[in-house]
Amino acid sequence: MAEDPQARIQELRAEIDRHARRYYEHDDPEIPDADYDRLLAELRALEEAHPDLVSADSPTQRIGGRPNPVFTPVAHAVPMMSLHNAFDRNELRAWAERVQRRLGDRPVGAYAAEPKFDGLAISVLYREGRMVRAATRGDGRTGEDVTGNVATIAGLPRRLGGSGAAPPAVLEVRAEVYLALSAFEALNQRQRDRGDKPYVNPRNAAAGSLRQKDSAVTAERGLSLWCYQLGAVDGGPRLASHIETLEWLDSLGFPVNEHAARLESLDAVEGYVSDLEARRHDLDYEVDGAVVKVDDLGIQAELGADAKAPRWAIAYKLPPEERSTELLDIEVSIGPSGQATPFARLAPVFVGGVTVTTATLHNEDQVAAKDVRPGDTVIVRRAGDVIPEVVRSVPSARPEGSAPWAFPRRCPVCGQPLRRDEGAAATFCVNFGCPRQVRGRIEHFVGRAAMDIEFLGEKNIDRFVTDGLLADAADLYRLDFDRIAAMEGFGAVSAENLRSSVEASRRQPLHRLLFGLRIPEIGQANARLLASSFETMDAILAADEDELAAVEGFGPIIAAAVRGWFDDPRARDLIERLREAGLQMEAEAAGGSAAAAAAQTLAGRAVVVTGTLEGFSRDQARSAIAARGGNSPGGVSSRTFALVAGADPGASKVNKAAQAGVPVIDEAAFERLLETGELDAGGPDGGEAAAGV
Ligand code: IVH
Repeated sequence: MAEDPQARIQELRAEIDRHARRYYEHDDPEIPDADYDRLLAELRALEEAHPDLVSADSPTQRIGGRPNPVFTPVAHAVPMMSLHNAFDRNELRAWAERVQRRLGDRPVGAYAAEPKFDGLAISVLYREGRMVRAATRGDGRTGEDVTGNVATIAGLPRRLGGSGAAPPAVLEVRAEVYLALSAFEALNQRQRDRGDKPYVNPRNAAAGSLRQKDSAVTAERGLSLWCYQLGAVDGGPRLASHIETLEWLDSLGFPVNEHAARLESLDAVEGYVSDLEARRHDLDYEVDGAVVKVDDLGIQAELGADAKAPRWAIAYKLPPEERSTELLDIEVSIGPSGQATPFARLAPVFVGGVTVTTATLHNEDQVAAKDVRPGDTVIVRRAGDVIPEVVRSVPSARPEGSAPWAFPRRCPVCGQPLRRDEGAAATFCVNFGCPRQVRGRIEHFVGRAAMDIEFLGEKNIDRFVTDGLLADAADLYRLDFDRIAAMEGFGAVSAENLRSSVEASRRQPLHRLLFGLRIPEIGQANARLLASSFETMDAILAADEDELAAVEGFGPIIAAAVRGWFDDPRARDLIERLREAGLQMEAEAAGGSAAAAAAQTLAGRAVVVTGTLEGFSRDQARSAIAARGGNSPGGVSSRTFALVAGADPGASKVNKAAQAGVPVIDEAAFERLLETGELDAGGPDGGEAAAGV
């Protein structure tokens, strides 16, 4: 850790940025929210002490994450801001004093308090009482169009009014989308049954569900939302307070949380927060604090906002819940890359809304630093909430004669020696043939972002590896499907499904194969770069480190890692056997024409695909659109150029297209569109084409 403030500030910014990307852009946080908040608080304190070091691009000056380029961007007319945090009563009081100082003699009046829901902010726009668009917060100024997905949320009205006054001409409602704990448990059960990875927490599951490219998947997840704020409004009644706003939203049929309250004093606010803390786990949704707002909307307007958050509100964060329990044993699990992670087996304890029986201990040094031993009473925390963690042990409760825990010398899976390199924190099983790693590599290879082979969950891979059917990815292409059909729990249909999925994967483009090989440093983006820079597997095999380092964004470290991987004879052997199996070893060989050569018939146009096409998988359709300069967002909006509907199209997309006057075309018309950039039936405004489907 750097001691020089400038160096430490740089270090913190880089770390916060990295965690923010994982959280906001990949829905895959690595540390608990409380740790993230702590990093941010440290950075803020340093910047306050050294104002000359503050810069506009510091995470303290920025709101949330950047929009993800897959969905169409939406500019927010009224920015979607963040909230400043208070971590204790003093910070709450300090906020109230700042507010009062700005108001001078004018009394602040009542406060409004409500739970701070741990989900994702969205904006839902209604024109003349009809829902027309929904967008994520993104960076606060620009979000992503997720209309099709939000339209699947039960309880959110698509149309307003029906009774009483006409709806406002424009009404933008801000809300938090979340996954109820019960829906989260059910989803993870389905994930496990399918052999897919469960989500780490409800917030990530909600984020993943909202960003699905297929609204039917979102619909299955059972998202919910609470509406808590207005954005742009034209028309409607004159509202004087926040609580009145909530009542009005409720009367229009929006889901409004029942625990919002008007409170006359700061003492009452503190009482509210204590109550909420006591009851937070009786709720069927995660709450990470209370949002306290000045109730009077006139005063809110007067107070305004700073660059990041309004001055009239504060998020009072609840501390992560901690509980004590008995640590039964310390075991080591082996991850897909061979990393050996110690974890605690615990006597079941209810913490943070779930029953916890295991908690991570991170690595050997952490176990030593915390000096936790089997038999100890330990404090467990589920913060914000990633994987539960053992915070510390309670030395006074330690049984007599206990000894410090020693890291095992051998891999619990394959029995080979474990290795920890000098200066490294992590320990690894370095046995290439360790069944856990074999399974990890195959799981990665068949994954959706790689070769996309379905019907082969974790359990089946495990079984095939144990039964000796699979030792590496190339074995997938020599599987004996008759034998599989005869295996218990299989049958002719599942074996045939698997066969055709394996078969189809032979045509996956080179970049997917490269990603699937799990080459160090080669994620999806780098795999695309490798494929487009070298065009063939042979050229990559022949490239030296300098040539690899010259790929845009690579540099010497990635080049060395890639070269090292390809130089391993086992890697070369695997590639040769994959080549023999008929996999694509050349970029874009499928259509005979390289992506760059395709005419840009769809430049800047959004073409949405729904349902099953005969000649294209969903990804192939998207690649074909992208190769012609277009994009293929997950939902239909008024800016969509055309909706391609295959068999069993998503009803919400088709309805949306009809409403927005977006032409709906079939596969044949899609092929012509790719080629010519023109919509044949019904002309470019295509009203009739839509009617045909
Ligand atoms: S009011 C100007 N009320 O917290 C922002 N936000 O950290 C006004 N949130 O982006 C937001 N529950 O996603 C408000 N009851 C609530 C909330 C809430 C959760 C989220 C929201 C916001 C984030 C800021």
